[in-house]
Amino acid sequence: MLSAMQIGVLGATGPAGKGLAARLASVGHDVIAGSREDERAAAAVAALSDRWGERVATLRPGDNAVAAAASDMVIVATTWEGVIDTTREHAALLVDKVVVSMANGLEKIGNEFRPVLPDAGSLAQAVQQAAPKARVVSAFHLIPAAAFVALDNEMESDVVVCGDDDGARTSVLDLIVGIPTLRAFDGGSLSNAIGLEAFASVLLTVNLRHKGKGTLRLLGVDGYKAGKE
Ligand SMILES: NC(=O)c1ccc[n+]([C@@H]2O[C@H](COP(=O)([O-])OP(=O)(O)OC[C@H]3O[C@@H](n4cnc5c(N)ncnc54)[C@H](OP(=O)(O)O)[C@@H]3O)[C@@H](O)[C@H]2O)c1
Repeated sequence: MLSAMQIGVLGATGPAGKGLAARLASVGHDVIAGSREDERAAAAVAALSDRWGERVATLRPGDNAVAAAASDMVIVATTWEGVIDTTREHAALLVDKVVVSMANGLEKIGNEFRPVLPDAGSLAQAVQQAAPKARVVSAFHLIPAAAFVALDNEMESDVVVCGDDDGARTSVLDLIVGIPTLRAFDGGSLSNAIGLEAFASVLLTVNLRHKGKGTLRLLGVDGYKAGKE
C-alpha cells in the first residue's frame, strides 16, 4: 500500500475536483481542497463531510495557493479554460512537484462534443509550459466526476497516465492503483496526453448519443502493478 501523501487539488469546488478529493481522502491521503475563494473551499469540504463523515476526515479546505503548496502532489482540477493561468499563477509553488493535469478542452456543437486543443498540443503540455519546473503528468481524463464521489461504489474506469518524468509518472500510477478497483496504465510521454484529451470529446459524444455513461476499459492488457514495473 502506497504511504499517505499530502495532495492539493486546485479548483476542488467543481464536481471532478471535489469528487477526486473525496476519493483520495477516503483512501487515507491528506487532501487540501482548493478554490480561488476560501469560503467556496470550506463549503465544498463541509458538504463532503456532511455526506461522508469520517471517510473524508483527512480532507481540509484552503485557497488554491494553500493547495498548491501541498508537499507531495498537486492536481489541477479547475475548469479547462482556467488551467493554464491557474498553473502559471502558482508555478513558484510547483517547482519539482508532481502536478497532475486532468483537463479536457471541449466545446459542444449541436449534439456532439469537439476537442479544443491549445498551441502547445494538449492542455497537459500547456500546463507544463506554464510551470516549466513542475513534473507534469496527465491522468483521470475519462472518468466521470460522479464516479469519484460515489464512495460506496467501486470505480470501473481504467486510467492511462502520460508524463515525461519517469518518477512522477510512477507516483501517479501508484496513486491510482491505491484506489480500489481502478486500473492504471503507463501511456508514455506527455506528448501522448493529446490522445486522452481529444478522446474525451468522442467519449462524451458517444454517451450523449447513446444516452449512456461509458468510460474507458482496456482489454487484452494487464494494468500497472505497484512495485513490479
Ligand atoms: N466533470 C467531469 O466529469 C470530468 C471528467 C474528467 C476530467 N474533467 C476535467 O476536470 C476539470 C474539472 O472539471 P469540473 O467539471 O469539476 O469543472 P468545473 O465545475 O467547470 O470547474 C471546477 C472549478 O474551477 C474553478 N474555476 C472556474 N473558472 C475558473 C477560472 N477561470 N480560473 C480558475 N479556476 C476556475 C471553480 O472553482 P472556484 O470558483 O472555487 O475557484 C470551479 O468550481 C476540468 O478541467 C475537466 O475538463 C472533468
